[in-house]
Amino acid sequence: MDNKKNIINQIKEKSLNEHIPIIMDDTLEVIEEYLKKMNINRILEIGTATGYSAICFSLFLKDDGIIDTIERDSVRIEEAKNNIELVGKTNQINILEGDAVEILPTLKEKYDMIFIDAAKGKYTFFLKEALRLLNNDGIIFADNILYKGYVLSDYNKHKQRTAVNNLRKYIKETTEDENLETEILHVGDGLAITKLKK
Ligand SMILES: C[S@@+](CC[C@H](N)C(=O)[O-])C[C@H]1O[C@@H](n2cnc3c(N)ncnc32)[C@H](O)[C@@H]1O
Repeated sequence: MDNKKNIINQIKEKSLNEHIPIIMDDTLEVIEEYLKKMNINRILEIGTATGYSAICFSLFLKDDGIIDTIERDSVRIEEAKNNIELVGKTNQINILEGDAVEILPTLKEKYDMIFIDAAKGKYTFFLKEALRLLNNDGIIFADNILYKGYVLSDYNKHKQRTAVNNLRKYIKETTEDENLETEILHVGDGLAITKLKK
């Protein structure tokens, strides 16, 4: 186990050195607490990058648990495949290669946890698909929901406007829908946690 932890640390350091935006430690800690408490068997991740978060999540799955993770960048897919092999998780982590906007509508099986961590301008589309694919007792995490503080400020510059507007819409939709329960945590770059109301 210690050896596996060392390998995972090396994957993290290499990703950070290459400026690949992987999950921040405090965000990961929050999600890990849910993974410890909840009965999670099937995870969907949107945005694999180097496989770091998927590998961290997989440590909390039972032997028959699986993670499907979507990535469109071919260089990152290759690196993620190597990393997943290094930690011996090829039987649990499946990379779905391509654009999540095209892949998500083809998925049919439900998931217990969905982690949204890809193009910020597509978050409301990802939400719609995540709600369709979520088990009744499931949970959706959306990372970077506060995007450097822009989302809850009066930020209105042209550069990130589409992303910021989409993230604002995600928060509005998840907090105003009477069927959903949503918390926004100020960890990392902001984490939205959404469940279906019982
Ligand atoms: C923030 S990184 C993911 C980090 C990873 N979840 C982790 O914490 O280790 C976002 C990744 O999503 C990918 N991505 C962005 N938009 C996407 C899309 N529409 N479909 C598939 N992948 C996408 C990017 O190529 C990038 O590698």
